[in-house]
Amino acid sequence: MTQRVESDDPGIDAAVSALRDGLLVGLPTETVYGLAADATNDRALRRIFEVKGRPVDHPLILHIADRNDLPGIADGVSEACRVLIEHGWPGPLTVVVRARATVSRVATGGQDTVAVRVPGHPVAREIIRRLGRPVAAPSANRFGHVSPTTADHVVSDLGSDVAVVVDGGACAVGLESTIVDCTQESPRILRPGAVTKEQIDRLLNVKGAVIDSRGDGGVRAPGMLERHYAPVARVILHESWATVPRDEGSVIDCSGDVVDAAKGLYARLREVDELNLTLVHVVLPAEAGLGVALRDRLRKAAAGR
Ligand code: TXA
Ligand code: MG
Repeated sequence: MTQRVESDDPGIDAAVSALRDGLLVGLPTETVYGLAADATNDRALRRIFEVKGRPVDHPLILHIADRNDLPGIADGVSEACRVLIEHGWPGPLTVVVRARATVSRVATGGQDTVAVRVPGHPVAREIIRRLGRPVAAPSANRFGHVSPTTADHVVSDLGSDVAVVVDGGACAVGLESTIVDCTQESPRILRPGAVTKEQIDRLLNVKGAVIDSRGDGGVRAPGMLERHYAPVARVILHESWATVPRDEGSVIDCSGDVVDAAKGLYARLREVDELNLTLVHVVLPAEAGLGVALRDRLRKAAAGR
């Protein structure tokens, strides 16, 4: 049985105690809900891969409560990385750094690098703080499905495979974090998110331009696979309303307020499947700021099977 709890003191304690017992917890973050495990417990980490149906070489993100905890995980932090986390943490920003030998290679998928972030959601940080260890958490969906942005989504996707689900409300951002690889000379965006390329470029002004390496197969990031954020229904993309057929099917409009569109996207895609629709039209946002991340996820949702 899944224990569903509020994000109050007893709820947070229930989550921490489950993590201590090596169980999995549905964790609210500001981006999407995570499927959390104690990052120092290899058995619990293996269970994440099992429950998600995720290939074992697809690495997890470690979540920490405070940026001062990064040196305990990272084998060196570049100047550019330091600038990014100073401005971007807590928040929807993940950095990839060289991993200390003490970091579980189950979490890193066998690699010597590790992805880390300090989530913006205070409940997530409080759970990690009380546990006193980093928490590994991929999005709390089965592999290849749409990420969950409410506690209900987590329960309906994972059922009793997750011991405790903490209800922290609907996620404020609604898209997965921006991932920046900081292991190279110049940082590279591996996955666009709410921390935008424009913001990163501005922050790293003197450090040289960020190369957006989406589609570059060199680094293993399953978020870069085609059709990673896919509903069952066929998704057809439109640059404007002009090409949307008049009487045909359902429409998700992402051309208005981009923050609202991002926040609601995954819930809309789930609704489409719940209604057993075979087809949904989506009007795209402009390709700037958060619109870049939104278009990235929509392109993947629409990619052919
Ligand atoms: O917003 C988020 O990042 C959410 C919440 C729960 O924090 N988490 C999330 O995790 O989206 P997941 O597992 O669905 O996506 C993790 C991404 C994958 O694309 C993975 O390849 C990449 O992070 N990643 C993890 N470790 C990496 C590494 N060492 N090098 C390159 N990419 C890495
Ligand atoms: Mg995911």
